[in-house]
Amino acid sequence: MKMNTQADRIKVQEYAAPYDLVSYLNEYHRSIAAPDEFWVEQSRLLDWKSPFSKVRNVDFGTQGVTIRWFEDGVLNACVNCVDRHLGQRGNQTAILWESDEPGVTEKITYSELHASVCRLANGLRALGIRKGDCVAIYLPMIPEVAIAMLACARIGAIHSVVFAGFSADALAGRVRDCGARLVITADASVRAGKRIPLKSNVDEALRSCPLVEKCIVVARTSADVDWDAERDVRYVELVDAQSRECEPEWMNAEDPLFVLYTSGSTGTPKGVLHTTAGYLLSCALSHRHVFDLREDDIYWCSADVGWITGHSYIVYGPLANGATTLMFEGVPTYPSPSRFWEICDRHGVTIFYTAPTAIRALMREGDDHVRSTDRSSLRVLGSVGEPINPEAWRWYFEIVGDGRCPVVDTWWQTETGTIMIAPIPGVTPLKPGSATFPLFGVEPVLVNNSGDEIEGAGEGLLCLKQAGPGIMRTIYGDPKRFFKTYFGRIPGLYFTGDGCRRDEDGYYWITGRIDDVINVSGHRLGTAEIESALVAHPAVAEAAVVGYPHETKGQGIHAFITVKAGIEETEKLLGELRLSVRRQIGPIAQPDVIQWAASLPKTRSGKIMRRVLRKLAEGQTNDLGDMSTLAEPGVVATLAKSTQARG
Ligand code: WT7
Repeated sequence: MKMNTQADRIKVQEYAAPYDLVSYLNEYHRSIAAPDEFWVEQSRLLDWKSPFSKVRNVDFGTQGVTIRWFEDGVLNACVNCVDRHLGQRGNQTAILWESDEPGVTEKITYSELHASVCRLANGLRALGIRKGDCVAIYLPMIPEVAIAMLACARIGAIHSVVFAGFSADALAGRVRDCGARLVITADASVRAGKRIPLKSNVDEALRSCPLVEKCIVVARTSADVDWDAERDVRYVELVDAQSRECEPEWMNAEDPLFVLYTSGSTGTPKGVLHTTAGYLLSCALSHRHVFDLREDDIYWCSADVGWITGHSYIVYGPLANGATTLMFEGVPTYPSPSRFWEICDRHGVTIFYTAPTAIRALMREGDDHVRSTDRSSLRVLGSVGEPINPEAWRWYFEIVGDGRCPVVDTWWQTETGTIMIAPIPGVTPLKPGSATFPLFGVEPVLVNNSGDEIEGAGEGLLCLKQAGPGIMRTIYGDPKRFFKTYFGRIPGLYFTGDGCRRDEDGYYWITGRIDDVINVSGHRLGTAEIESALVAHPAVAEAAVVGYPHETKGQGIHAFITVKAGIEETEKLLGELRLSVRRQIGPIAQPDVIQWAASLPKTRSGKIMRRVLRKLAEGQTNDLGDMSTLAEPGVVATLAKSTQARG
């Protein structure tokens, strides 16, 4: 079947495009060929306290890497996201919050945001936080999470937001790794009408975090919490005592803005470090082009602020652009699967950005939940987090967007900071399932397994030759691991970990991770982390975790477990194993399938053959590939039998 004919390309006719494809491509080619000139022009999107004299100092070298942008420029990210809009947009809504409870909303204008951020920034200073200190933020989707991030940015503190769905253990590991001296949390979070305690997780985590001196607690509900009078500070009491003006700390362009942890194929999560000017500029530029941002837009990204999508496209991008950003506390299916579209109608949402896993879950609930709503305010639909299958793409386009709204499938990573490959609404002819073309300043290349570049159409490893100013600068505290992970594999190129195909029209199709990272509902998890949570159980001798295709989640988690001699494989033990993963990582990492394995397939040198386990998990027991390197062939036959028995 030939897919890539002109006829397969969707051009949304009614859409009034901001420019045409030829101008876009010209501008794109200029950004690659003359990056200094291009980025000097774009840098005007930000307000600088003092200008930079050097645009770019970038070398993806074979011995070491330098990534420095605008390096002698001085600015403040918070001033760029808040203060500079006060003149024109003081009374415009900056953050439009919809709580878990339908219709319970809060509008925070840019002036109000300014006052709240300054108060908390002063409060942080009063608690001894200074430029360069790290602050951990463990908050639900409430406005205080954005206020906390911006308050840190204002005083030059490095924030590290930890997704509120992570467990106490996972939080503790991240707090210790970044050396946070203060944690900001809430008593509880509220999701789908249920209260989920947060403060008690922090209490547990901080038992193993000796550096943390203070904990600021937002009262989201009136839940009772344990209180350490020496350490714990009530958010309201802290900020009420502060002035609504706060002198910002003037930051160097390359000063750290935040650390955000993400999973890799090996070891513990990596603290991805982003710095100030390049990251913020890239957020602002990509947000305005990829979503075709206009005056009076109501923009909504449904991600959680605990992930990079929330950082770049709920907080920094939209606020740097002076937009109205909607923040939603709840879940897509509460109180009904119409919730997303009801929110769109209630607030007149024009741009909506969500994840394929949510689209697929809602698609399964049937079209009526969508058709019963109006959605005529919508203009652009976005997708992020994992490959979007063409079926879900078409449903999103035809049912949710009534065939009127371009779907922008955006490929990027925590590490790249901002969108790298995506269409421009109304400009780029769309192909369902393709993220289309690279954005300004991004030069993707495909390489084969030996590291040779693939020209034209073909499939290979996705690498970047140029990535623009928003890419990560290092792994916090571990520059060697940074170099090895991203630049050690293919000399001179940033290695993404994704596989990708480029078709005859030059469209990019991301095929998924080629390393031991799995993507469950758009959440990135390292199989090694889940394995280590499983082997931590005293009954487990060995564990191997692989991903398998899952109808709504994208990938599901399949764990193969070998128990120690004399241990019985019981239902009770299964429950304990699931709990062990929940406790050490969080509910998102809990295996969907746990299969007992008398032993695991290994090579003669003792390496677990994950390739074979993946096939078994997919149920492809008849087509297990080349097994000539397998040490004990019988092992696989036994596993295949129990896989079939499991159904
Ligand atoms: C990995 C990065 C980017 C923010 C959310 C996830 C996968 C992401 C797409 C897409 C195909 C995608 C990749 C990537 N991914 N977006 N549009 N099409 N795959 O950030 O947790 O750092 O995960 O998510 O595999 O490497 P992340």
